[in-house]
Amino acid sequence: MSIAKECGSYIDFNEVMQMTDATALEAWNVTATDFPRSRTTREQLAYLIRYAILAPSSHNTQPWQFHIGMDHIDLYADRSRSLAVIDPDHRQLIMSCGAALLNMRVAVRRFGFTGQVEVMPDPDRPEFLARIKLGLPVTPDKGDYELFDAIPQRHTNRQPFELRPVSYQIADQLSKAATNEQAWMIRLHPDAKQQAAELIAAADRVQFHDKEFRRELSQWLSPARSDRRDGIPVEAKPGRPIMNAPMVVRTFDMGNSVAATEHGLATGSPVLMVLGTELDEPLDWLRNGQAMQRVLLLGRTYGISASFLNQVLEIDRFRAEFAQLTRRAGYPQLVMRMGYGPPAMPTPRRPVEDVITWK
Ligand SMILES: Cc1cc2nc3c(=O)[nH]c(=O)nc-3n(C[C@H](O)[C@H](O)[C@H](O)COP(=O)(O)O)c2cc1C
Repeated sequence: MSIAKECGSYIDFNEVMQMTDATALEAWNVTATDFPRSRTTREQLAYLIRYAILAPSSHNTQPWQFHIGMDHIDLYADRSRSLAVIDPDHRQLIMSCGAALLNMRVAVRRFGFTGQVEVMPDPDRPEFLARIKLGLPVTPDKGDYELFDAIPQRHTNRQPFELRPVSYQIADQLSKAATNEQAWMIRLHPDAKQQAAELIAAADRVQFHDKEFRRELSQWLSPARSDRRDGIPVEAKPGRPIMNAPMVVRTFDMGNSVAATEHGLATGSPVLMVLGTELDEPLDWLRNGQAMQRVLLLGRTYGISASFLNQVLEIDRFRAEFAQLTRRAGYPQLVMRMGYGPPAMPTPRRPVEDVITWK
């Protein structure tokens, strides 16, 4: 059991697990030993989707659909699950799908195939994000196994982290992992961290002041003991559960208290990482989503936890100001705090049957 002090209250990991409906968490019980190795390619492809759906997604919207063909999976963005207020261009939605795609690529490799991915294959159908095939047989290496094992161990961890620093060596490896996915990742300089925290807090105040933002957020918060299969359980948010109750979030402008919490998390975390891309088009968002997930999984293999402070990139003027802090050209896409934290709880997933269509 791990107990962490958070905003004057305590999160008790075991208690939280008991509060969440067990069936909503069953997706996390997936095991490699059940991979249907001697069955058809279609059945094997369907098994990979069990790993895809464990990817993070903004507000846990799980905005993806998978069509299974004879020898491939087609990944589609499900725009019916978009967030009109914080993500009107579907930037985060496509990044979330990118994370699901990366999980599939990692799983394909672990099960002994090279994988073949064609991204955005049809310009007339922008929601068709990728086609994945198993490819040729290959022998996975230690790194492939470790990355794969990290998939069900990764959870967004919004609790405070230890002061223990993340070594430059690990931070460099994480940045290289992002570069390999055609994105960039920089560690914010300590001087820039304070300015970043202030911008993050300012963005919180602006967002919480907006009724439409509060309404959208409250729709994706699920109350304690809910059997809902999407959205963020209130227990996964820091602070007292009552403060996170959907009705309270919708009704009151808690901008100042949220801003203070997030400011503290930003300055108190060993590192703030910014992931970004050279351009700002859907293909870049898909790449960035894959980079994010590769970084998160690799980080997990070193015992590193992460959570997001993305509000600052959800408002154009703050995003432009934040871009200056990175001291490089390009578009910041995600802000993540990283460090060593207590265990974090899994969040629900929709049943895999709900996101698969057989062609
Ligand atoms: C593109 C993207 C943006 C996100 N932005 C935030 C954010 O600004 N604040 C936050 O607390 N969580 C953020 N998250 C985390 C999601 O809320 C989280 O992934 C989701 O609730 C599922 O939980 P899990 O990551 O523990 O599986 C983001 C996730 C993604 C993929």
